[in-house]
Amino acid sequence: MPKSPIRKLVPFAETAKKAGKKVYHLNIGQPDISTPKVALDAIHNFSDKVVEYSHSAGFESYRKGLANYYQNIGIDVDYTDLMVTTGGSEALLFALNSCLDNGEEVIIPEPFYANYNGFSTSAGVKVKPIATSIDDGFALPAIAEFEKLITPKTKAILICNPGNPTGYLYSKEELETLRNIVIKHDLFLIADEVYREFAYDGHIHHSVLNIDGLTEHAIVIDSTSKRYSMCGVRVGCIISKNKALMATALKFAQARLSPPTFGQIAGEAALKTDASYFKQVSAEYVSRRDLLVEGLNKIEGVICPKPKGAFYAIAQLPVDDAEKFAQWILEDFDLNGETIMVAPAAGFYSTPNKGINQVRIAYVLNKEALQKSIDILAAALRVYPGRIL
Ligand SMILES: Cc1ncc(COP(=O)(O)O)c(C=O)c1O
Repeated sequence: MPKSPIRKLVPFAETAKKAGKKVYHLNIGQPDISTPKVALDAIHNFSDKVVEYSHSAGFESYRKGLANYYQNIGIDVDYTDLMVTTGGSEALLFALNSCLDNGEEVIIPEPFYANYNGFSTSAGVKVKPIATSIDDGFALPAIAEFEKLITPKTKAILICNPGNPTGYLYSKEELETLRNIVIKHDLFLIADEVYREFAYDGHIHHSVLNIDGLTEHAIVIDSTSKRYSMCGVRVGCIISKNKALMATALKFAQARLSPPTFGQIAGEAALKTDASYFKQVSAEYVSRRDLLVEGLNKIEGVICPKPKGAFYAIAQLPVDDAEKFAQWILEDFDLNGETIMVAPAAGFYSTPNKGINQVRIAYVLNKEALQKSIDILAAALRVYPGRIL
C-alpha cells in the first residue's frame, strides 16, 4: 500500500506543534465551513433505543431522498440505481472491485486523488496513468493518448470531476470524447463527482449520467463529505443504471453489512439544506481561490493555474523536491511562530518522478489564514536552501 501524501508528513506537523508552532493545514480537504444545522439537529434528536444496522444498500427513505436530490438537479435516477456507502471512499472501492478483476487495468488522468492508488492496490487493479499538464491547466489528453494505453486488460477509465487535486472541470465535449472511447472499447467510465456543487465562474458541472449512450457504462461516485462539510459522517453513494454492476456491488455491500446509521440520519436530514447554503459556500470558496491563486502567482518562481472547481490547487514551486521542502517548512522554518503544511504532489501521480516540484494546496481555511499561509510560503521560499533560481 502506498502512503497517503496528504497525511504522510503528519508526524512533522505534530512535532512542530509540540515545539509551540502554529501549523496552517493546507494539506487536507477538511473544510472549516459549518455543517448544515438540519443535519446536526437530526443526530442530536436521535431517540431510538437501539442503534441498528440498516439495509446494506442504505435506508430506503434515504435512497429515495437521494434520488429526488438528483432529479432536482436534472439527473434522472431511480432510487434502485443507487446504493449508500461509507463515504465516497467505499463507493470507489465497490466500483473498482465490481468492474475489474485482479490484474486488470484502469486508466486515470494524472495527477489524481492520491487514494485512487491505495484503492486500486486494495482491489488488485493496475493504474495506467495518462499525463495531463500544468501548462494547459490539466485539460483532458487527446483521444489518441488514451488509445495508446488501452490493452485487452483495460476495463475502466476513472475521472474526477471537478478534479482533486487540479480543480479541473470537464466540459461536455470532453465527456463526450470519453464516451466515444468507452463505447468503442466497451469500458466502464467511473466518474468521481464528489465536488459537483463546487463549479465556479458560471461553469456548469456535467454528470456522466447525463451523457447519451452511457447507460451501461457510467458509474458515479458521490459523497456527503464535501457537499455539506460533514466529512466525519462517512456517507456517500455509488450510482449506476447498469443492473449487473449494481448487483455485484450489492454483494460487497452485504459483506460489510451496512453503511453507518448516524451518518445516514445526518445525510437524509441534510437533503433539506436550503439552496442559499450552497450559494454562500460557493461564493466563499471562489473568494478564497482568487486570493490564493493571485497570491501564489505573485511569488517569484511559483506557477498556479486557476482551478474551475473543487477546493484544491496545484502549485509548481522553485524547489528541487517539494516533499523535502514540505518537511523542511514544518521542521526548520516559521514566520513569527507560524508555519504551513502542504501535500507534496508527487503522491498524486503514479508515474515516478512526476510532480516532484509541485504541491497541492487545499483552500479550506478562511481568508485571513490563507493570506498568512501565502506570506509564510513566500518567506520560506526566499531562504530555502534547495531553491532553484
Ligand atoms: C476526489 C475525492 N473522492 C473521494 C473522496 C472520499 O471522500 P469521502 O470518503 O469522505 O466521501 C475524497 C476525499 O477527499 C476526494 O477528494
